[in-house]
Amino acid sequence: MARPKIALIGAGQIGGTLAHLAALKELGDVVLFDIAEGTPQGKALDIAEAGPSEGFDASLKGTTDYADIAGADVCIVTAGVPRKPGMSRDDLLGINLKVMKSVGEGIKTHAPNAFVICITNPLDAMVWALREYSGLPHNMVCGMAGVLDSARFRHFLSLEFEVSMKDVTAFVLGGHGDTMVPSVRYSTVAGIPLPDLVEMGWTTQEKLDAIVQRTRDGGAEIVGLLGNGSAYYAPATSAIEMAEAYLKDQKRVLPCAANVDGAYGLKGMYVGVPTVIGAGGIERVIEISLSKDEKAMFEKSVDAVKGLVEACKGIDGGLG
Ligand code: APR
Repeated sequence: MARPKIALIGAGQIGGTLAHLAALKELGDVVLFDIAEGTPQGKALDIAEAGPSEGFDASLKGTTDYADIAGADVCIVTAGVPRKPGMSRDDLLGINLKVMKSVGEGIKTHAPNAFVICITNPLDAMVWALREYSGLPHNMVCGMAGVLDSARFRHFLSLEFEVSMKDVTAFVLGGHGDTMVPSVRYSTVAGIPLPDLVEMGWTTQEKLDAIVQRTRDGGAEIVGLLGNGSAYYAPATSAIEMAEAYLKDQKRVLPCAANVDGAYGLKGMYVGVPTVIGAGGIERVIEISLSKDEKAMFEKSVDAVKGLVEACKGIDGGLG
């Protein structure tokens, strides 16, 4: 059986890391696409030359021609510009919307059967626009945010509790922005919910609140430290987890930006929710019960995403 084909649209910091991880994990053959001539070819060759030492079986190709993504099983989209210090993800909207148009059309023409994972920011609005431009079924287009935000939350919690990150589960709801909702009630250490851990004296409510805020600001913290770009190792790892769930039909329960139509009282909009990812793409959106406060935070986040989608429609009247 032929190896799966993984197309990476955007061969920058995240794109290159995605290619390296996909090869190391032998998820399939990789095509790196970018508009910057030389970049995808150079990265593909560099990673391919790591193959003999690492011993992976995967071919890597760099290209500036969309025809080379033909028949891809998975497309992961990072094309666009990242944040600079002082910028919010929303500041990227105008530039990256144009990029989504060309990427959506490229996928529609050459890889209409792919499972598409968008990473480009501002995430929730960009994945919505990419779906519109590509015309692919909603269950086959999603955005990577919740896995990353949850991983950040889990990492910070593991530091606070001095336990293995493996035993910390967490998830984050809502848009991938300042209004995201790290869920304290549904996050646990080996099944023990965080509020119980406060009662047990493992931490205090104040410390927990600070960790929630640090999670919300997790992307900006890295942008501030790097000074000339945004995070790429953890974002790439998160998207690979989603791609693997699809390619291996793992039925993973992962939070991601999915089209929510009916659940949470929403009518067809992309926002971060828990989902099941398997061979059918986004096979299920899981509707969890929210407390009054959680609901208010989630609704605020939903409103922020709606505002960005309206801004997209304002820029391109043909959308929606
Ligand atoms: N088509 C294909 N590639 C494009 C296009 C386009 N229309 N426009 C830009 N690119 C490419 C750039 O040439 C660059 O190589 O996208 C790549 C982006 O890479 P980086 O600038 O290194 O950005 P990266 O850190 O990978 O982040 C990409 O993901 O997390 C988000 O906010 C981040 O929106 C940003 C995206």
